[in-house]
Amino acid sequence: MPYSERVMDHFANPRNMGEIPDADGIGKVGNPVCGDMMFIYIKVKDDILVDVKFKTFGCAAALATSSMITELAKGKTLEEGMRISRKDVADALDGLPPQKMHCSNLAADGLHEAIKDYLIKNGRAFVKVDL
Ligand code: FES
Repeated sequence: MPYSERVMDHFANPRNMGEIPDADGIGKVGNPVCGDMMFIYIKVKDDILVDVKFKTFGCAAALATSSMITELAKGKTLEEGMRISRKDVADALDGLPPQKMHCSNLAADGLHEAIKDYLIKNGRAFVKVDL
């Protein structure tokens, strides 16, 4: 299965790429198998993800899924962000080749880690959401 047009679009024209220097939360995740790494940065206001950016050192699918998670997460509440699953990311990209499904894990996990970082920094309880 080749990459979908949507994956190729997000790979060629990544949305929200870069760092948020004064981020409220940062998620850092890596894939031990391939060595790829991803950073997700969030800005939060009144429990809304008002800005989400990423920096990714990885494959085309990792780049496309990072780009997509920023679009899925922006404007959502923290709880809604925690509920964005690995499958949601892959589905939003019209699927990924089976051998590339693990790449979507990084994006969803990175967002969750960034939200967790924000909550812990602000002395708030982190509640794991079952997806
Ligand atoms: Fe490493 Fe895609 S091959 S995340």
